[in-house]
Amino acid sequence: MTVNLAVSIGKLKLKNPVMVGSGTFGYAEEFGDFVDLKNLGAIVTKTITIKPRSGNPSPRTCETPAGMLNSIGLENPGIDKFISEKLTELLKIGPPIIVSISSIGDPKEFITLAARLDKIKAVAAIELNLSCPNIKEHSRLISQNPKFTHAVVKMTRKVTKKTLIAKLSPNVTDIVEIAKAAEDGGADAVSLINTLGGMSIDVKSRTPKIAMITGGLSGPAIRPVAVCMVWETYRKIKIPIIGMGGIMDTQNALEFFMAGATAVSIGTGNFINPGLTMEIIRGLESYLSKNKLSGINQLTGSVKT
Ligand SMILES: Cc1cc2nc3c(=O)[nH]c(=O)nc-3n(C[C@H](O)[C@H](O)[C@H](O)COP(=O)(O)O)c2cc1C
Repeated sequence: MTVNLAVSIGKLKLKNPVMVGSGTFGYAEEFGDFVDLKNLGAIVTKTITIKPRSGNPSPRTCETPAGMLNSIGLENPGIDKFISEKLTELLKIGPPIIVSISSIGDPKEFITLAARLDKIKAVAAIELNLSCPNIKEHSRLISQNPKFTHAVVKMTRKVTKKTLIAKLSPNVTDIVEIAKAAEDGGADAVSLINTLGGMSIDVKSRTPKIAMITGGLSGPAIRPVAVCMVWETYRKIKIPIIGMGGIMDTQNALEFFMAGATAVSIGTGNFINPGLTMEIIRGLESYLSKNKLSGINQLTGSVKT
């Protein structure tokens, strides 16, 4: 039985719904030996800011039960170098390139970045990282406030017709309220979820295990939180959801589709198994075929409650 893995997110057409989570795949250069990159549904870049950033001091990551903490601090080459060096290479690979952007301080930086990317025809979509927990310049995140979320999406929407994805933080009381604010502001999709705030202490030295003291928790430990947020949000918004958080195999990805995701992103799982994305694409095909389902769309929101 031939099955159809293709999905649409805004104007974006993906041949399959498996992409990579921002910041966990670099600019794809290190993964070419393990993954047939052209088979990915889409590639989401590491978050780009206007100026280059060297990121936070080390140690920036540590292992935790069923997950990891990171505090990278948006290390990136800045938009100029990204466009002149990284993007050119990324575009040669083939799948749609979704560029993740963020502001440091002034939210108007989103406008500057989106307006620049809008002029580059080959950029498939823009993901607004409204949820990076690891930069010392921010005490609160944009996506912890529905008004700010709405305002940033709306002002960015004005400068680009490209598919606009709002990436949200799980560190909130009501994710649905924030997702609705993004939808009302003009987002074509939401990405759920970024990392959960976390801290880990080395009891011998009585010091935090990462230099910035706290960081973002990712990996299987956060999966039930992510699946729950996708499910809650799916019932209340009309735009598609890109689900992520601890996907380590096909079964995990299926949970996200059943909860309401249209596509999924693989993050921490790439570090453990660089070929995971390809295994999941094959796994989804086989699941659909075995269950006599012709398209992945039939699974979205199909959980029986
Ligand atoms: C080392 C690391 C770096 C990350 N960098 C970014 C980033 O630059 N921008 C972003 O939007 N999310 C970033 N994330 C969050 C992931 O894209 C993803 O939302 C989160 O880790 C949950 O998925 P996972 O459990 O599959 O990793 C990062 C995550 C990790 C582990």
